[in-house]
Amino acid sequence: MHVNTLILGAGAAGLHCAAHSGGDTLVIDHAKSAGEKIRISGGGRCNFTNTGTTAANFISQNPHFAKSALARYTQWDFIDLVDRHGIAWHEKTLGQLFCDTSAKDIIAMLLAEMDAVGAQLWLKTEIGNIRHDGTHFHVALKRNGQAQIVTADHLVVATGGKSIPKMGATGLAYDIARQFGLAMTDTRAALVPFTFSDDKFKPLAGTAVPARMTTTDGTSFDEALLFTHRGLSGPAVLQSSSYWREGEDVSITIAPDFDIDAALKSHRDTDARKALTTILSNHIPARLIEFLATEVELSGNMADLSDARITEVTHALRNWTLKPSGTEGYRTAEVTLGGVDTNDLSSKTMEAKGQSGLYFIGEAVDVTGWLGGYNFQWAWSSGYAAGTAI
Ligand code: FDA
Repeated sequence: MHVNTLILGAGAAGLHCAAHSGGDTLVIDHAKSAGEKIRISGGGRCNFTNTGTTAANFISQNPHFAKSALARYTQWDFIDLVDRHGIAWHEKTLGQLFCDTSAKDIIAMLLAEMDAVGAQLWLKTEIGNIRHDGTHFHVALKRNGQAQIVTADHLVVATGGKSIPKMGATGLAYDIARQFGLAMTDTRAALVPFTFSDDKFKPLAGTAVPARMTTTDGTSFDEALLFTHRGLSGPAVLQSSSYWREGEDVSITIAPDFDIDAALKSHRDTDARKALTTILSNHIPARLIEFLATEVELSGNMADLSDARITEVTHALRNWTLKPSGTEGYRTAEVTLGGVDTNDLSSKTMEAKGQSGLYFIGEAVDVTGWLGGYNFQWAWSSGYAAGTAI
């Protein structure tokens, strides 16, 4: 069988690319269903884009690489597509858009778009050897127990990264990149909880607090922080994990919008007989205050607090320094940081510079978004760039 375009991977990027690459397109995937990560994303409601998307929300060795694709297929283009399919959505917070009903609506929409252009989808298909004969790509496949070769003029690699191997993630895109001589940047689990070897946060498991987390490179995120049995999670932590490296500290400001210094000084006058921990617990979860009292001196009544003590307490809650022992790794990571080196790809088309007809899109590429719908927007934009270039 011969097709004009063969797309490996029926995830967000592959499906969206297929909707734009013309009729003679075949998408293959080893999974039983298309778009499995879309289905489980955003708690089943898919945070499908972010209204504030710019290239600044992405991490890449080349911070300019994503600009072209993001500009040619924007968040507004995807919102328009969602609207045309009558999918109701809402903004949750910070520009993050979610389906009102189900992430499955996004998958159905992408499949309908593919159908409309006549692209085909083969699931439960194993990918074997891949070669290029100077004119065409030859891809060995196994489908329904039958081995076969599909040849194609264009090969789009959209098999994603390594996060969540249980869901079928493999390093296939990286193997193909290396085979065709493209460079790779280091890959690591990102948007992932931090772990601490001593189980120190076990007593706090389930407690959430607004926080600012800052990594040693100075990057800060003001979002919720969640204590878990094994360590720290929540948006502030997942975001910071993309900037953290083994052995580094993270700094936490608890309740960054709460002016602790001013509040304590005022309560010292109005609540002189109340315990400091009681006053703090009005603004910060009591379990966390109790926990911190074992690390920071928080005893005594408000009347006993000198200005110097108030400064000390404020400092402790503003600069809580911790050293994670690691992360939960690819088992739970939402994305893989790093991937196919953008120096070896055209930013306009996603085509490999050294191999005409070969494209890499989506998470496989060294472009990693923040938490908040950015990674799907990259999948839509890079898929469109390749699809329309073919
Ligand atoms: P994706 O992983 O979607 O697709 C790759 C496809 O290739 C899969 O279908 C896989 O089966 C197939 N494949 C892999 N190896 C293969 C092989 N060897 N042979 C055949 N097929 C193979 N992002 C966001 O913007 N908003 C959100 O709400 C979320 N939520 C979220 C939740 C969770 C739990 C996770 C794990 C991730 C998210 N993400 C997210 C991230 C988002 O899911 C991710 O960035 C995109 O799915 C990447 O799209 P791709 O198409 O590149 O890869």
